[in-house]
Amino acid sequence: MPAADATDPGLARILGEAGCVNAQVETVIDLDAIAHNVRILRELAGDAAVMAVVKADGYNHGAVEVGKAALAAGAAELGVTTIDEAVQLREAGITAPILSWLNDSDADYAAAIAADVEIGVSSLSQLRAAEAAARSTGRAPTVTLKVDTGLNRNGLSTAEYPQALAELRALVDEQAVRFRAIFSHLARGDEPAHPTNDLQRDRFLDAIAAAKEYGLEPELVHLANSPATLTRPDLAFDLVRPGIAMYGLSPVPDLGDFGLRPAMTFQARVVQVKQIAAGAGVSYGHTWIAPRDTTVALIPAGYADGVFRPLSGRFEVWLGGARHPNVGRVCMDQFVVDLGDNAANIREGDVAVMFGGGQGEPRAEDWAVQLDSLNYEVVCAPRGRAVRRYVGGAR
Ligand SMILES: Cc1ncc(COP(=O)(O)O)c(C=O)c1O
Repeated sequence: MPAADATDPGLARILGEAGCVNAQVETVIDLDAIAHNVRILRELAGDAAVMAVVKADGYNHGAVEVGKAALAAGAAELGVTTIDEAVQLREAGITAPILSWLNDSDADYAAAIAADVEIGVSSLSQLRAAEAAARSTGRAPTVTLKVDTGLNRNGLSTAEYPQALAELRALVDEQAVRFRAIFSHLARGDEPAHPTNDLQRDRFLDAIAAAKEYGLEPELVHLANSPATLTRPDLAFDLVRPGIAMYGLSPVPDLGDFGLRPAMTFQARVVQVKQIAAGAGVSYGHTWIAPRDTTVALIPAGYADGVFRPLSGRFEVWLGGARHPNVGRVCMDQFVVDLGDNAANIREGDVAVMFGGGQGEPRAEDWAVQLDSLNYEVVCAPRGRAVRRYVGGAR
């Protein structure tokens, strides 16, 4: 990025912290918010440790930066889906325990062993793949059993579980693998009082008991995701695995924000401000016709950058100290907002916040409601030309 003259007041409006012009479209990730949220989760977890879930590139916040910030704030371990994701964290210098739980049996288990990544095993074929890697490398992988207690997604099925325990027992005896933990995942954690949570807890306890019958004593057991960490302390066991709450978003919005602070701000700089006459149609298909003479601002972010087209006409931005509605269709690269009577103080280069955590700013949750989706999907959306920038943290 080109260095710019911070003494120029016009330019100063669009300068970033480092005196450089920030990207037109950005996600700004607040690492202090991550640390704050980890501290809240640690508090709620009581004696249980916290595994910060940084899969999917840290829910699109950046796995390495978030992982480091979370560990610095007291998380004990990191959780990801693939071995590749885990290896990237190791390559970035992270030495804390890392669990990887979604790999097919052709995944590079030898790489997991080399990087000291704990392998979450969800099937017999995966256990056998870990065993094969142990034999070919001559080194014992650390294996954790993921049991399906009712989500019916990944996890050892009831049918395979006894055989998996028998094979694991033999591998442990042979010191071909190290057995560490047992975990499972909730289907309805975001409905704290739903009986399925209790049913899954009971099945989880049964699975732990069954492992013990094979002489497999787990070092730790874990079940709770964000909603359970926030609302079901009885499910904390030895460790909790929050993802979305660490990013500052509530998985149970109806129950409040729990003092969490959203870590992601999705924003773009205005590229053009123009007056249009009453009766003028805006954007493709002229789905919005100006009801009066007005001023509009053009925001250079579109569905290629993660601004969902179905949001057209159904979201607002925070710009110039007020909310302004999107009018007309969201396009691939841009959308328009109506400034109405509030145009005087808005100029090219001003920052329009699409969602964030600041006073007055729209929230990821607002998009989720409009899209009949979840805040999880919303923060995963920014992409394309959106450039990630970090603030806060001890960098
Ligand atoms: C096994 C596992 N644990 C923990 C999490 C974190 O979930 P949440 O973001 O709801 O905290 C996930 C996310 O899907 C997961 O798959």
